[in-house]
This record gives sequence, C-alpha cells and structure tokens, in this order.
Amino acid sequence: MVRPVNSLTVAALVALLPGLVAAQSWTDQPVDPSEHQEEVAVDYEDEGRYYTADDVPTYNIAEDGTVDWLTFSGFRRYHAECHVCHGPDGEGSTYAPKIKNSAVLMDYYDFYDTVVNGRANGNSVMPHFGDNPNVMCYLDDIYVYLKARGMDAVARGRPAKKAAKSEMIQEAENACMG
Ligand code: HEC
Repeated sequence: MVRPVNSLTVAALVALLPGLVAAQSWTDQPVDPSEHQEEVAVDYEDEGRYYTADDVPTYNIAEDGTVDWLTFSGFRRYHAECHVCHGPDGEGSTYAPKIKNSAVLMDYYDFYDTVVNGRANGNSVMPHFGDNPNVMCYLDDIYVYLKARGMDAVARGRPAKKAAKSEMIQEAENACMG
C-alpha cells in the first residue's frame, strides 16, 4: 500500500525551505574603517559616555590606548552573553554573524531591536534578550565595544587600560538592575 504523504511532513518541509533557499540575512560584511570614521566620531561626552553627532553611543580610545568604560564593560558583557554563538571578540562563527562588522554597518536602532526581539531566518535563530537585565542594562556597552572592534580601534582580547566608571554610569546601572 502506498502511504499518502503526511500533510504535516509537507508543512515541515515547506517551513524549512526558506532557511535552505534564502541566502544568509546577515548584515556582517567586510568593513573598511577609513570609510566609517566620520559616522563613529565622538561629537560629545556625557559623564563618561560618548556620542556621535546623531546621539548614537560610540567608543573613545585615548592615544595611549585607554578605552572608555563602556568599551571595557562591553568586552566583559559580550563574552558573558554573546560569545558562545558569535565567537570571541565579535569574530563570528559558522552559525552566527561576525557582529563586530554588524555593529558598524547596522543602524544602531536595528541592532538594538534585533537583540531585544531576536530574529529567525529558517534554522538560523538569534534569541531575544529583551527580558534579560544582564544584556539590556549593558546593551550600549556591548554595542560600543563591538563597534570599536569592527573599526579595529581595539585589538582582540581584554583591553589593558580603561577609564574609570563614572558616577552617572554606576547610578544608571543600579537603577536598571534594580
Ligand atoms: C544562541 C546563539 C546566539 C546568542 C547567544 C546570541 N546570538 Fe546574535 N545571532 C545569532 C544568530 C544565529 C544570528 C543570525 C540570525 C539570522 O540569520 O537572521 C544572530 C544575529 C545577530 C545580530 C544581527 C547581525 C547581522 O549582521 O544581521 C545581532 C546584532 C546580534 N545577533 C547580536 C547579539 C548580541 C548582542 C548577543 C549577546 C547579547 C547575541 N547576539 C547573542 C545567534 C546568537
């Protein structure tokens, strides 16, 4: 007897197809730092946090290599929460993008939205972190750190010298973590 094709099997196959057919939707592409210098440039500082002219958080690396607090904190938070999938230092893996490049190429608000809400493309799944304070309270830190990595402004590994954490950053952290 010929077994009729189970409609569930068909549904499962159809659901899988987009993941198999569609190319990866990753924003990650090679970055030429010289093309993005203006976009990431510091316009102003607010008690230890640095921003571009568009009010987007950015990194600040002193001439002697001292990194701003967010870049240092982002290094630690990234390696606690993201590196299992995205690889050490934002370098990517076979199944998750090189998000050091994404942080330069993606719009800040799209980057934020992807982490808060997650994203799925077939079997390629980015979890959502919107309810995880260990990510949400440090998302600017992670973003700024990855942007510095994508721009080659900081080397791989733990930054050796860091600026002190400002009182405002500490207060914001306390308020966020509750
Ligand atoms: C369980 C594995 C996993 C973890 C943990 C994870 N991600 Fe992802 N992430 C992925 C995958 C897989 C994708 C690609 C999704 C797709 O194909 O659309 C992705 C995509 C992204 C993107 C979009 C990148 C692009 O180029 O389009 C961003 C931004 C991102 N992740 C940030 C983060 C951050 C920040 C963290 C840590 C807080 C994190 N991810 C933790 C698996 C993960």
